[in-house]
Amino acid sequence: MVEHLVIAIDGPAASGKSSVARALARRLGFVYVNTGAMYRAITWLAVSKGVPTADANRVHQLLHFTDIVCGVAEGQSTILLDGLDPEPHLVSDEVNANVSAIATIPEVRRILVAKQRAYARDHDIVMEGRDIGSAVFPETPYKFYVDASPEVRARRRAAQGLTDSVATRDKVDSTRRTSPLIIAEDAHVIDSSNLTVDGVAGEIVGRLKLKGLKLVEEGKGGGMKYEV
Ligand code: CDP
Repeated sequence: MVEHLVIAIDGPAASGKSSVARALARRLGFVYVNTGAMYRAITWLAVSKGVPTADANRVHQLLHFTDIVCGVAEGQSTILLDGLDPEPHLVSDEVNANVSAIATIPEVRRILVAKQRAYARDHDIVMEGRDIGSAVFPETPYKFYVDASPEVRARRRAAQGLTDSVATRDKVDSTRRTSPLIIAEDAHVIDSSNLTVDGVAGEIVGRLKLKGLKLVEEGKGGGMKYEV
C-alpha cells in the first residue's frame, strides 16, 4: 500500500529522467529518489572490495555483511555503506561498466527495492529508475516513461563528459530476467528528444492534474503544493 504520493519515472540510460525527476521533485516539494545511485553504490562497493560483479553469491554475501543506510538530505535520497558515502565514485568507468551486471542479481534487487519502498512511508516522492512503475510501486497511478532517441541520448551522455556505452547497458537492462526495463502498461510515455527539462516536467505536471491531483501554484518561483 502506498502511504504517500509516489511519482514513478522510468526510462533508459541518458533519457533525461534524472534531471526531470530532480526538477519535478523540487517544484512539488517532494523528495527526489535516485534508485540508479543505489545500484551504482553497490557496484562501487563490490568493485572496491575486489568482489567479481558476475559472482552473485559473493555479491550477496558482501551485502549481508554491509550496513546499508538510505536516508534523505536536502530533499534528495542518500546512501551510506558502512558509514561511507560512495557519491564521488558513482559515475566512474568501472561502475558504469559493471552496474548492469550487479542490477541483474535478484538478491541485490530484493534488498534495494525494500529500501526504495520504505521512502514512501515518510515522504511524498519522485522516484526514478528502470522498474519503479512496473515492480517497485506498481500500485501508484502516477507513472511516467521518459525516452529519447539513441542519438540524443548518446549526445547527452557525451555532454556530461562521459564515454559510457549506454547501448550496452540498455541491452542488459531490457533483457534481464528480474524486473527488466519495460514500459508499464499504465505509464504515460514522453519523448524528451526535443524537449527541455522544464518542458518534460511541465508535461508531467499537466498529466498529474488530468489524473485528478490538485496542484496549485505557490508564489512566482514555479513551486507548487497539492491539496488533498
Ligand atoms: O546512467 P543513467 O542515469 O542512465 O542510469 P542510472 O539511473 O544511474 O542507473 C544505472 C544502472 O542501474 C542501470 O543501467 C540499471 O542497470 C540499474 N538500475 C536498475 O536496474 N533499476 C533501477 N531502478 C535503477 C537502475
